[in-house]
Amino acid sequence: MPASSPPLTLDADRVLKLAAQSMFETFASTAMGTMVVDSAHRIVWIDDGYRRFLPALGHAEGDFVGRRVEDVVPNTLMGQVVESGTPILVDLLTNQAGTFLVSRLPLRNEQGKIIGAVGFVLLDHPETTMQPLIGKFSRLQAELDAARRQIAEARRPRYTIASFIGTSPAALEVKRQARRVAQTDSTALLLGETGTGKELLAHGIHAASRRAARPFVGVNIAAVPDTLLEAEFFGVAPGAYTGADRKGREGKFKLADGGTLFLDEIGDMPLALQSKLLRALQEQEIEPLGSNRIERVDVRIVAATSRDLAAMVTAGSFRADLFYRLNVLPIRLPALRERLADLEALVESLSEDIARRSGLPARSVSPEALALLARQDWPGNIRELRNTLEQAALMTDDLVLEARHFNGPMGATRDSAPGTAATTATVVIPSPPVDPPPVLPQVPLALRTLADQVAEVERIAIAQALRDNGGNRAQTARQLGMSRAALYDRLARWPDLDQAS
Ligand SMILES: Nc1ncnc2c1ncn2[C@@H]1O[C@H](COP(=O)(O)OP(=O)(O)OP(=O)(O)O)[C@@H](O)[C@H]1O
Ligand SMILES: [Mg+2]
Repeated sequence: MPASSPPLTLDADRVLKLAAQSMFETFASTAMGTMVVDSAHRIVWIDDGYRRFLPALGHAEGDFVGRRVEDVVPNTLMGQVVESGTPILVDLLTNQAGTFLVSRLPLRNEQGKIIGAVGFVLLDHPETTMQPLIGKFSRLQAELDAARRQIAEARRPRYTIASFIGTSPAALEVKRQARRVAQTDSTALLLGETGTGKELLAHGIHAASRRAARPFVGVNIAAVPDTLLEAEFFGVAPGAYTGADRKGREGKFKLADGGTLFLDEIGDMPLALQSKLLRALQEQEIEPLGSNRIERVDVRIVAATSRDLAAMVTAGSFRADLFYRLNVLPIRLPALRERLADLEALVESLSEDIARRSGLPARSVSPEALALLARQDWPGNIRELRNTLEQAALMTDDLVLEARHFNGPMGATRDSAPGTAATTATVVIPSPPVDPPPVLPQVPLALRTLADQVAEVERIAIAQALRDNGGNRAQTARQLGMSRAALYDRLARWPDLDQAS
């Protein structure tokens, strides 16, 4: 480079200035219209091109220049560009004058301070000139709207606190406590026998909380093998393992961020993981497996169990510190036998639901049948009541279910007051289940694979054991000599069994 050349920086500076000037002139001369506003958003200048839009905007030049731009150009973002200093290079502006392809740039003085903004109308009627692009844009927009609606629908809580049927003092107290808990962000603990509505109430608490529009994520701890629980909770960093999880996986804590995490069957949590869960609850921080990285999360925990956690603490199988952390706001759900006053309302609501789901007509229950139902022990609580009603409805076309229709379904149910029940005409005779086993596909056995036939036998055995145990899944697994995780796996494969259990 010759020694006499001026320093490069000066040259570059001049070139940039020239470029800026000619770019502005190019823009201004090719654009359909140009406007300049000052730092107070007031229109200080418009060109001839822009004047053409004034009638469509409903203004004459005299009452346009000098006004705040947002007062005379609906939906403009010029003010935002002035305030933020960030240009909006291309945008679609729509108002009563039409749709325009526009560009907006901040204007700065020598010191770099924002003194206003310049706006160009690059194209009017872009809907004709840019038809393919706009068409694609509106199609994508429509798809996005539809997807958003679907997500909102999927996330909409399935139950509210009002779905917890019952007006007995015990039921009202549960609902009162649930509403109070919903107002807070504290951990809630739902305690109660199997089938008393813990999961339903967890949904209800979420729906009544400020987190209702955010995800509700459930983990059934009993259903996940111990070795996979940590990954299920906290996620796995990409590359932590080879194989299926190579890409990494979000944990349930992360999926529930901003919303509610429902920890079902918390009493089944292995001790080793309890301390990690406690830390996550206390710090609201998680460490995905293999990541060496701490992530903050914001989740409210609702935990549930049918086990006696306090006794488990004494026995050393549940950490005391975790128990105290969870037990801040315990809600005890009464067993059905403790709130028989609600039986009629429950029968009515469950019958309607059964009818809706099965497509069969709704049945009512005669007073005698109701009295019979009230004498049962209901170890499986509302789930068992539901199954009993469902089976009785399947056995007859009668619209009113009489006591005799319940003899079959309740064969496996202990009578809570044998002294009285045994002397009445509506004795429940323990009989082999009369309801037919799940219908086998009408295919000759030899044509079905061995795996199919084995699965069918499993299905029948599980259905039977669930009935024997009033829907109690822990007892069912024990009776069948299978792990709880394996049972939940089958129930996930055959969801109708769980409904019917
Ligand atoms: N108060 C209630 N009103 C209406 N339906 C209820 C009520 N309680 C429970 N149910 C119904 O009973 C069934 C069992 O309820 P849910 O699954 O919430 O019980 P759970 O306490 O979580 O049982 P488990 O401990 O076995 O998991 C569901 O079909 C639920 O809709
Ligand atoms: Mg449950």
